[in-house]
Amino acid sequence: MTNCQSTLDRFCSFFPTNLAYYISSHKIWGDQIGVSDYNGFMRIWFKRLKFEWRYWFDQPPWDTGISPPELMEYLASHPPGRALDLGCGTGTNLVTMAKAGWQVYGVDFSRRAIALARKKLTQHDLKADLLVESVTNLHVVMQGFDLILDIGCYHQLEKSEREKYLDNIRRLLKQNGDYLVYAHYKKFPEDSHGIDELDVEQFLSFLRLIRRTEGWERSIRPSVWLWFHKDVME
Ligand SMILES: C[S@@+](CC[C@H](N)C(=O)[O-])C[C@H]1O[C@@H](n2cnc3c(N)ncnc32)[C@H](O)[C@@H]1O
Repeated sequence: MTNCQSTLDRFCSFFPTNLAYYISSHKIWGDQIGVSDYNGFMRIWFKRLKFEWRYWFDQPPWDTGISPPELMEYLASHPPGRALDLGCGTGTNLVTMAKAGWQVYGVDFSRRAIALARKKLTQHDLKADLLVESVTNLHVVMQGFDLILDIGCYHQLEKSEREKYLDNIRRLLKQNGDYLVYAHYKKFPEDSHGIDELDVEQFLSFLRLIRRTEGWERSIRPSVWLWFHKDVME
């Protein structure tokens, strides 16, 4: 367990046990987003608060306003369709995709990020569907996306959330559609942040890997771009 993780667990354990009982017995919202234990529930809320805070009071390092070359290359070689950006942040990639003619849908659990995305799209006179919600709880989103993009969201989900997320990709991605994901790669197997080969295998259970590009983020963290394709079922 990382230092950050154990600090978070300690923080969470300060909350009264009757609150824990209330949460677990009523299973408020937890079933939908894929978490049933108290610490997991608190970790997710803490993470959500952290993102909200950063979008209000910070200049997050990922929010560069520039779309990555991997996405640009993809857009240049594919005709426009419907795209879903999971953890879309302030909408930089929504703007890029909409400008390239795509019909775009952005989901982020930060209300502030979605408000900034809305503003950015309006400034460019572009349209998008935007949803403040967890990427694990996408019942209201209609299936049939040609492209699902995830830059920096999947790698920070809890293990139980990842199962829900995968179910969503399975349901929402069209046959012949692509799933493009950028993620931090775990430095140590026990890290909770990041992905590893088990995650890749989960994707491979229903998708085909087209391209894998390893890299380093700001020379600090190993990272990976994965491009998967959903084959047409015979
Ligand atoms: C590293 S940022 C990347 C933002 C955006 N994709 C970009 O490239 O600028 C990760 C984003 O995922 C969002 N996020 C993290 N966990 C999420 C979850 N469970 N559901 C929805 N959004 C989530 C955060 O609020 C944040 O905006």
